[in-house]
Amino acid sequence: MRFDGKVAIVTGAASGIGRAIAARLAAEGAKVCLVDRDEAALHAARPGEIGGHGETMIHACDVSDEAQVAACVQAVVGKWGRLDAVANNAGVSRGYQPITDNDMEDWKFVFGVNLFGVAHFIKHAGKVMADQGSGAIVNTASVAGIRSGAGGNAYSASKAGVISLTQTAACDLGGFGVRVNAVCPGLIETGMTQRVFDHARENDKEHKLGSRCELRRYGRPEEIAAAVCFLASDDASYITGQALPVDGGNTASLNLPGMKV
Ligand SMILES: NC(=O)c1ccc[n+]([C@@H]2O[C@H](COP(=O)([O-])OP(=O)(O)OC[C@H]3O[C@@H](n4cnc5c(N)ncnc54)[C@H](O)[C@@H]3O)[C@@H](O)[C@H]2O)c1
Repeated sequence: MRFDGKVAIVTGAASGIGRAIAARLAAEGAKVCLVDRDEAALHAARPGEIGGHGETMIHACDVSDEAQVAACVQAVVGKWGRLDAVANNAGVSRGYQPITDNDMEDWKFVFGVNLFGVAHFIKHAGKVMADQGSGAIVNTASVAGIRSGAGGNAYSASKAGVISLTQTAACDLGGFGVRVNAVCPGLIETGMTQRVFDHARENDKEHKLGSRCELRRYGRPEEIAAAVCFLASDDASYITGQALPVDGGNTASLNLPGMKV
């Protein structure tokens, strides 16, 4: 019950990793606002459906729109009077075309959600937390923001931006008692990656997914949620500005083919 009496916002909470983060926070006693642009899916994702002890609310919001984000933060603070944790998790990807084929409208769309969405919430939630003198923000970046090979150009660049923003915002907000960290998930089965998993299963290649990781498997949304909740909790009270890979060891090794016998 690390979040007993605390108030949290989770973006992208209608699906995948965000839904698991919301469930874990609720299970640990938080009052949780589930945020997503998909309102119908939000209703289905809401605890009691996801379980947990804490009170919940849902708020439909497009994180790429600053005014909607400001209104969301206001709604949460208006209802519960404070804000202790934000999981900036909403994200989109746009395939793997080579840079020479990239449509720059896709770049704008991906950056609008993945990087601007995170900046919007850090700005507006950060003000509330700074006034409070406490708070923790955890951004969902990706291993794609550390190395190539895990996402398209715009997606990977946006996630590298999230890692950088995690560092700069941690510097801006640290003096106010507000921590900012990120997780960098490896391959996880969610709505975003469902086509990859479906394709692998149809072709009897599921065993190949995650086989480059040191743990030789892909991850589960709950394993990312556990890391996010650690960084959002007082257990991480002396950690800020860090980007933690949660990837089965994928980024720990070059894992060159033929080197292991
Ligand atoms: N699944 C993976 O393997 C993986 C790996 C690394 C990082 N990530 C990151 O994890 C995060 C969660 O993704 P997921 O894998 O659970 O995918 P998902 O598609 O299952 O969930 C993403 C959620 O974000 C919501 N969303 C998208 N755009 C939004 C917007 N503009 N405003 C509000 N909500 C919006 C979607 O409606 C969806 O519910 C993303 O930031 C993603 O980039 C995922």
